[in-house]
Amino acid sequence: MNSNPYFIPVLFEKQLTADSPVKVWLIDTPVVLVKSKDAIHAYEDFCPHRGAPLSKGFVKDGVLTCRYHGWEFNANGKNKHVPVKNAAVDCELKRIQVAVKYGIIWISKDSTALIPELSEELPAFTLNGKIHASILNTLENFLEGSHTHFVHDGLVRSKKITRQKIEATLIPSETGFSVHYQSEPPKGLLTVLTPARFRNLRAVSTYMHPNISVLEYWNDANIRVARIEGILSTQQTQTVYLARIYLHLGLFTPIATMIAKPIFKKIIQQDKVILELQEKNLQHFKQPSFVSDETDVVGVEIQRWLYNKENRAVEPFNFTVYW
Ligand code: FES
Ligand SMILES: [Fe+2]
Repeated sequence: MNSNPYFIPVLFEKQLTADSPVKVWLIDTPVVLVKSKDAIHAYEDFCPHRGAPLSKGFVKDGVLTCRYHGWEFNANGKNKHVPVKNAAVDCELKRIQVAVKYGIIWISKDSTALIPELSEELPAFTLNGKIHASILNTLENFLEGSHTHFVHDGLVRSKKITRQKIEATLIPSETGFSVHYQSEPPKGLLTVLTPARFRNLRAVSTYMHPNISVLEYWNDANIRVARIEGILSTQQTQTVYLARIYLHLGLFTPIATMIAKPIFKKIIQQDKVILELQEKNLQHFKQPSFVSDETDVVGVEIQRWLYNKENRAVEPFNFTVYW
């Protein structure tokens, strides 16, 4: 039985094409995903004959064939043919539960595992990739703003600006927490590119247990002009991110989408570089201890939700950042 009560998000549905098996990870178990006709199946990526990876095999008409000795398995995972015997052998693949929701493929060993609640709306665009970093450090990076002046200098905020005092409130919820920041004038390319009436934005960072980050930007007219969902999973030594980006800029939305997509790609690339540098460095220190100040609440709170839930904040509280 899987000890994780949540389904693991592994791929966008559109990344899986019919008849080509794909290897993903259920944390540290290799899993092969197979799409045939309109059904998606998942099995442990292990041929019962001699353990070759089935993800390197072939699929045709729902039949998965191992590339080593050609054993064939039908859609319910049962062996249907062994070429050298010219008959079937009584064995089957270990099935993994699959769910498709929000355009995402989720897997679990437990069919009763949960899928977190996300927006049903179709995103303006999506981005996905892998980062060699822990899920905790990636979630913190996706949700905290203090690195943006340095890592995204000129794009999101800037190193050179005079810092401004911003009041923030952390509000706990049943599923995680949100941090609401006061609105701030534009400081980077991303906001300058947006139409004037959308520029004074206030940010809301939301963490949803266990692995979802949501960044929202609201304008003075209380319109949520952008929402960036990061749906993360640990797959072996990497964090896989599936990002859904929503823009609500009225008539400007199509053009803003075209402009924003390469900028967001660049921003995530910048985050990947620093996260992988950090991860590599951490390998050299056995039990690293970190100093967190009171502005580091996002990372501290996520850590509590993941590893030390009884200590998480239960009442809203205020703090101040200089952005
Ligand atoms: S290992 Fe798969 S057919 Fe032999
Ligand atoms: Fe970032």
